[in-house]
Amino acid sequence: MILIKNIKGLVQVREKSPKYLSGAQMQELPVLENAWISLKDGRIYDFGSMDNCPENDTSDVIDAQGSFVLPAWCDSHTHLVYAGNREKEFELRLKGATYQEIAAAGGGILNSAKTLQNTSEEELYQQSAARLKAVMHMGTGAIEIKSGYGLELEAEMRMLRVARRLGETFNIPVRTSFLAAHAVPESFETSGAYVAHIIAEMLPKVAESGLADYIDIFCEDGYFSLNDTDQLLGAAAAYELRPKIHVNQFTAEGGVALGVDHNALSVDHLEEFTKADLTALKGSETIAVALPGCSFFLGIPYTPARRIIDAGLPLALATDYNPGSAPSGNMNFVVSAACSKMKMTPQEAINAATINGAYAMGLENEVGSITKGKRANLIITENIPSIGYLPYSFGQNHIKEVIIGGQRLNSSN
Ligand code: NIG
Ligand code: FE
Repeated sequence: MILIKNIKGLVQVREKSPKYLSGAQMQELPVLENAWISLKDGRIYDFGSMDNCPENDTSDVIDAQGSFVLPAWCDSHTHLVYAGNREKEFELRLKGATYQEIAAAGGGILNSAKTLQNTSEEELYQQSAARLKAVMHMGTGAIEIKSGYGLELEAEMRMLRVARRLGETFNIPVRTSFLAAHAVPESFETSGAYVAHIIAEMLPKVAESGLADYIDIFCEDGYFSLNDTDQLLGAAAAYELRPKIHVNQFTAEGGVALGVDHNALSVDHLEEFTKADLTALKGSETIAVALPGCSFFLGIPYTPARRIIDAGLPLALATDYNPGSAPSGNMNFVVSAACSKMKMTPQEAINAATINGAYAMGLENEVGSITKGKRANLIITENIPSIGYLPYSFGQNHIKEVIIGGQRLNSSN
């Protein structure tokens, strides 16, 4: 049992957890002032005001004086399992090459796929474990991880096995997405031919392995068409793999409505966004996911959060952690950038990075709020003046301690 007492503000306290928050609800971030919280068997056991703080029997007591406690970040879109890096492409881009030009010249996703295909499972695990450890220390307590740098069955399965092993080893909820449709390998003439191959040869085996929770595709000009997306999502539905898709990163051509038609859990990126996209999302159970780290790194537009939220829709925030378009898994930066660049309020951004992030990976009953019975995944801040100080004071670390599954992280874990 752990008891955290003298908490200046216990943030995101919900007696009953909402599924997700939409529109004006996102502005409401409940804070219990001068509070305590107790954790038992890896779960949130109880909490309340310091006026009724329980006796300190045998508990491990943390005195949080001056600190805020909030649910750990829920990062619903990452490619954290990858091999090597692409800093050379970064330098090419700084000299004027575009992301698409680099990809067309055999760089980009195909470059990472070549590296991964030549990396052993153990080595891939070690590289990925180091990244996961680092993001957990930055406050991430639940994460979605995609395949997509294998592009052939064995390497895709290797990525998914590594993702599952990470979840078990680090006692953190990991949701996985099967993203073989990330780029077209050189051995295929067309995207359609590769999608047909994924459907016939890869999908049945991946589904049978139980290694994937969701299906993903990079629906984009020069990658996979609307028709490819329709085919793949239709086939995946037969295996009960719900879509979480990459769409509207560079062009908006109707992929959002298609995702909604296929009952996607989330549509991610949306740096380009039309009125038709907004209309398609209304009344659906599909959540929009913004990835400001990608906009920052590639210098492309930011997802129009205000248009989405002001239309009454829900929005989640995630890192997109990957070697090409967002080589950072820091959710604190994402929350900060969402405020500064997308004009979200701190309350909206924190809701988007906790409860809405949890929903965007099907974990809303497990994480994302301070609710009894949910996993004890918590961030304890340093002594900061307000919760809005977190995004305001960007690029600085204000986390004193992170607790995941009731375990206090320290320098040795
Ligand atoms: O979400 N856009 C597609 N996939 C990743 C980038 C992958 C890469 O460049 O390696 C993304 O931005
Ligand atoms: Fe991505």
